[in-house]
Amino acid sequence: MVAPSEDAASTGIFLASNESVYGPGQMAQEAIMRSASTVERYPDDGVARLAAAIGVRYGIDSETICCGFGSDDLLARLARAYLSPGDELIHSAHGYPKIPNYAYANDAVPVSAADQDFTADVDAILQCVTERTRIVMLANPDNPAGSYLSGGEVRRLHGRLSPEILLVLDSAYTEYVSATDYENPLALIKSSTNVVMTRTFSKVFGLAGLRVGWACGPEEVIDTLRRIGITFPISVPALAACEAALEDRDHFERVVGENHRIREMFSDALKSLGFEVIPSQTNFVLARFAEPDQAVRVHQSLEANDIYTRRFAGGEFARCVRFTLGTEEEMLGCIAVLENGCKANG
Ligand SMILES: Cc1ncc(COP(=O)(O)O)c(C=O)c1O
Repeated sequence: MVAPSEDAASTGIFLASNESVYGPGQMAQEAIMRSASTVERYPDDGVARLAAAIGVRYGIDSETICCGFGSDDLLARLARAYLSPGDELIHSAHGYPKIPNYAYANDAVPVSAADQDFTADVDAILQCVTERTRIVMLANPDNPAGSYLSGGEVRRLHGRLSPEILLVLDSAYTEYVSATDYENPLALIKSSTNVVMTRTFSKVFGLAGLRVGWACGPEEVIDTLRRIGITFPISVPALAACEAALEDRDHFERVVGENHRIREMFSDALKSLGFEVIPSQTNFVLARFAEPDQAVRVHQSLEANDIYTRRFAGGEFARCVRFTLGTEEEMLGCIAVLENGCKANG
C-alpha cells in the first residue's frame, strides 16, 4: 500500500523519508515569510550568496562550493559531467539505492561492490576498479542501513584510487554522526584533486521541501558543476531559509541532540524486543527481522496504526524495515505497536 500524501493536511506519523521531524527552526521560518515580498525577482546572486554563507559557517573557501536543487541535483550533475557511455561507476551493493541510476542516466555502467553486512567494503570496491572506472560514489553514512565508513577507511580507499577517478562522498547525514572515528571529508578534499562531498539542507536543517544541497570539491570540478546547472537553482525563499538556518545554532544543536537521544532509546527498545538493529549514525534506524514475512507484518501493523515506515523490496532488504526517527512520542508509538505484535505472535 502506498502511504497517503505526506503533506501537512494528512494525518498519520510519517517515518518513511528521513526528513527532519523538527522541521525548520523559527529563524528559517521567519526568513521564508519575509522573502515572500520579493519573489517577483530572480534570485540573481542566490548561488554565490549561499556558497558564501556555507563557507563562513564551515570555514570553506566559497570558490570550492556549488549549490543546487537538492544534493540529488549535484550528484546527477557530477555523473553527467564525468561519465561517458560505457564508463563505470562503482557503488556499494547495499548503499544508497539511487546511485546506480546516476550511471544509467548517462549510459554508463553501475558496478556493485560487495559490502560487509551493509557497510561499504574498501577492498571489495578496489577490486572492482577497471580502466573504465570514472567515479566511486558512496553515501557516508549510508542509506538505508545507517552504517558508515571510518575516516581511516575512506583515506585508505582514496589512497589506492588513481587521481583520474572521482571519489564522491554523499554526506547527506554527516551532521548526525556520533562515531569518533568518522572524519569530515573536508581535509581530504583540500589535500587532493579528486574528492567531492555533497551535503544537503533536507535533513538536519529541516528544509527538504525547499530542495537545497551543495557540493564541495576541487575548484575545477566545482566550476564544471556550476556551468552545467540550471539557471537560478536556489529560489528566493530557499536562499532566505538556508542563510537563516546556517545561523540558527540553537535549533541545529537541539535537533542533533534529540536525534542522538531518540536513536539510542529506539535502538535499545527494538533490541529489547528481540529485533536486530543495524547500528545507525543517521536520523533513521534499520531493523532486520528473521524472515521477509515478519518485516511485511511489522510494516503492515504499523500502517494499520497510521504509522508509515519504509520497507524495501528484494534481496537482503526484504527482511528489513527502516524507521525514520520521529519524536519520542512517535517512536514510543511504534514500540507499542511492535510490542503488541510480539504478544500476538506468542
Ligand atoms: C544518502 C542520500 N543522499 C542524497 C539524498 C537526497 O537529498 P536531497 O534532498 O538533498 O536531494 C538522500 C535523501 O534521502 C539520501 O538519503
